[in-house]
Amino acid sequence: MSDLVMHITGARPNFPKAAPVIAALSDRGVAQKLVHTGQHYDDNMSAVFFRELGLPQPDVNLGVGSGSHASQTAAIMTALETVVLEDRPALVMVYGDVNSTLAAALVASKLGIGIAHVEAGLRSFDWTMPEEINRVVTDRLADRLYATSADAVAHLGNEGVSADKIRLVGNPMIDTLLAHRDRFDGSRVRDQLGLSGRYAVATLHRPANVDDPAALTPLVAALSAVADEVDVVLPLHPRGAARLEQSGLLAHPNVHAIDPVGYTEFLGLVAESALVVTDSGGIQEETTVLGVPCLTLRPNTERPVTITDGTNQLVTPASLPATAAKALAEGRPTTWPIPPLWDGHAGERIARDVVSLLD
Ligand code: UD1
Ligand code: UDP
Repeated sequence: MSDLVMHITGARPNFPKAAPVIAALSDRGVAQKLVHTGQHYDDNMSAVFFRELGLPQPDVNLGVGSGSHASQTAAIMTALETVVLEDRPALVMVYGDVNSTLAAALVASKLGIGIAHVEAGLRSFDWTMPEEINRVVTDRLADRLYATSADAVAHLGNEGVSADKIRLVGNPMIDTLLAHRDRFDGSRVRDQLGLSGRYAVATLHRPANVDDPAALTPLVAALSAVADEVDVVLPLHPRGAARLEQSGLLAHPNVHAIDPVGYTEFLGLVAESALVVTDSGGIQEETTVLGVPCLTLRPNTERPVTITDGTNQLVTPASLPATAAKALAEGRPTTWPIPPLWDGHAGERIARDVVSLLD
C-alpha cells in the first residue's frame, strides 16, 4: 500500500487552506502530490497564491477550466480518476466546499481510497447554495473529517457521522493568515487609488447575489449608500464582474473597482480597513481574526462562529446602509473574541493525525 497523500485543490479559497497542511506534512517527511484541477486559472485567482504562500507548484494541473456545475464536476472527475488510478494514494485530501472538492471526493470514494476533508461540518442549511450540496456530500463520503469549530462537529454528529472519524483541529486558513501577517501590505493599491483616509473593502461573488439582476439591484443601491459615507475598494471576482460593471455602481465616485489582488495585498487592504462588506466565506473568518467589522450580505452563514466569537453580522440590502453607518461610527473593536483553536497550529494538528492514519 502506498504512503502517498494526494491533495486536490482548484479554486482560490482552497489554496490558503491547503498550504499549512502541505507544509506540516512536508516537515514530517510524508510523500505528497499536489493536484490543481484548473477550476480557477487566472493568475490573480490561482498562481499568485502559489507564489505568495510557499505552496509547491502543482505536480499535475488537470486544466478543466470553467463550465456548468455538471460539466465542470464531470471534467474534474474524468481527469482526476486517471491520476488517482496511476498513483493509488493512501489518502486523498480535499478542502472546503467547491466543485473540485466534491468531484475529488466522488472519485476517491468509488476507487476505495481514503478521503480526508479539511473544513468538514460547516452547514448553512441553505440548499440553494451549490457549496452546501458539495459540503454535505463530501462529508458523507469522507473517512476523516477535520472541523474548524465546535458547531461543525455537532452538525456531523447530528448527521450520524461517527465521532471517531471527526477531529476538531482549528482553522488552517487562519494558520496562513497568521504566518503571513507581517507581509500584509495594501499600500500599493491605496496609493494607486489615492486613498489616504478611512475606507471599506467589499467583495461579492455568490450566485444568489450577482447572477440574478433582481437580487443585484437592491444590493447595488445599498452599496452606493455605503459609498456615500466612505470610500469602498471593490476587488471584482470574475463571477458577476460584468453585471456589476453594467449596474452603474462603479460610476459612484467613492467606489474603486479593481481586479482581484493577491493574498498579501488583499489582506493588507482588509487589515487596515474600517469595514468589510462581503458574501465570501473565508473573508468572514479572516475579518474575525483581524478584528475588522464584517457585514455579510447573505441570509445565513455556515460560519456562525464568526458571529458569536468574532466580528461578523448578517445584513440584507435593506439593513446594510444603517448597519454600516453604525459600525463606522463605533469604530473597530479594541477587544473581541476569537474562536478556540484558531491559533496558527491547525495544519500541524491535521498533519499529526494524517501520519497516524498512514501508520
Ligand atoms: C467558486 C466556488 C465558490 C467559491 C469561489 C471562490 C463552486 C461551485 N463555487 O465559485 O464556492 O466561493 O469559487 O472564489 O465551486 N472565472 C474566470 N477566471 C478564473 C475562474 C473563473 O474568469 O480563473 C469566471 C468564469 O467565467 C467562470 C466564473 O468565473 O464561469 C465562475 O467560476 P467558478 O469556478 O465556476 O465559480 P466561482 O463563482 O468562482
Ligand atoms: N482573496 C484574495 N484576493 C481577492 C479576494 C479574496 O486574495 O481579491 C482571498 C481571501 O482573503 C480569502 C480567499 O481569497 O483568503 C477566499 O476567497 P473567496 O471569497 O473567493 O472564496 P470563499 O471563501 O467565499 O469560498
